[in-house]
Amino acid sequence: MNDEQVEVADLQAALGARERLRQWADGGQVAELLYAASASGWLDILKEPTTVEALAENSGVSTERARRVIEVFLAAEVVRSLEGPSPAYVLTTEFAALHRSPAGVRLDDTIDDLAAARNRIRSAFSPDARDHWEQDALIVARNWGMLPTAASRAIFSMAYNAVPEYRDRLAAGGTLLDVGSGVGGALLTTLTIFTQLRAVGVERADDVVQELRTRAEAAGVASRLEVRCADARELSDEAVCEVAYWAQAFFPRDARASTLAAVRRALVPGGLLMVQELTPSAQDTPEAQLHSALGALVAESRGVPPVCTAEELAAELRDGGFEDVQVAVSPVGRLVVGRRGN
Ligand SMILES: C[S@@+](CC[C@H](N)C(=O)[O-])C[C@H]1O[C@@H](n2cnc3c(N)ncnc32)[C@H](O)[C@@H]1O
Repeated sequence: MNDEQVEVADLQAALGARERLRQWADGGQVAELLYAASASGWLDILKEPTTVEALAENSGVSTERARRVIEVFLAAEVVRSLEGPSPAYVLTTEFAALHRSPAGVRLDDTIDDLAAARNRIRSAFSPDARDHWEQDALIVARNWGMLPTAASRAIFSMAYNAVPEYRDRLAAGGTLLDVGSGVGGALLTTLTIFTQLRAVGVERADDVVQELRTRAEAAGVASRLEVRCADARELSDEAVCEVAYWAQAFFPRDARASTLAAVRRALVPGGLLMVQELTPSAQDTPEAQLHSALGALVAESRGVPPVCTAEELAAELRDGGFEDVQVAVSPVGRLVVGRRGN
């Protein structure tokens, strides 16, 4: 290749890279537009079939602008068009559902969580070793914590049915130790399924604890729940809980062994600990690989190991002194249960 050909190839490569950058940015821009549409009331309007003219009039933008927004939402499958004399648009089934926030799964929480992840990625090269967990604990907890509704009870019951001994202990009453409670998705749902159960919830972030207490009141289970704003590593309870659940996927590397030791101490002899494997999608597409690599980077910036498989969790429980460690397959993923020996 002569100099000119080398330069042309270089230019083509740079233009190709620029195109990929634009493609990556597209999803983020749709998310921003969705956020703006939610804030300006568009999503409420789009619950029912609506024309571009009505949308424009409602928000005071030109018909042309409203049409451009709808074009983006059509291409992103946020809305679909309806047959008829004049074109009308309505949210697709998925986005109509997300807009209704079933079991507290909210669009705004998802968008806040995406923004928090973006901030984490932006600071990937910051030499500061501290993970600053306080800054986005509430955002992450809200994005994970479902409300205790019939739907979430059905999902948690599917999981519990895969571990009958653990389920029967919950049903028998006694005390559940919930470690890393967040805003109580698992904890409050479990308390509403098992009406004899009492629980201690441990959460280190005080804004998260505040919201957990509010949600516990709203769910009518506050009288059966003790919420502690504490670091799980410092639990000093001894042999008081029959069962424990550890939200392991959110615990940093340097806190795991000491958390397990504290949980083991708090369980009665023969008491059971359950953890859940949270694996990324099994797909092996370039998109799935990019998604899991980004997820691992965000987790790393929070000091959390990216993904622990059920086998790794089982080994971690055994190393922590748990016995009879078993992996159970449930419709909502694999669960690992270990027993405190006598
Ligand atoms: C996001 S929640 C997990 C989901 C939650 N179990 C639910 O079902 O809603 C995990 C929580 O663990 C808390 N956490 C992490 N490390 C902790 C520690 N050492 N002690 C207590 N809580 C901790 C985080 O602040 C976070 O709110």
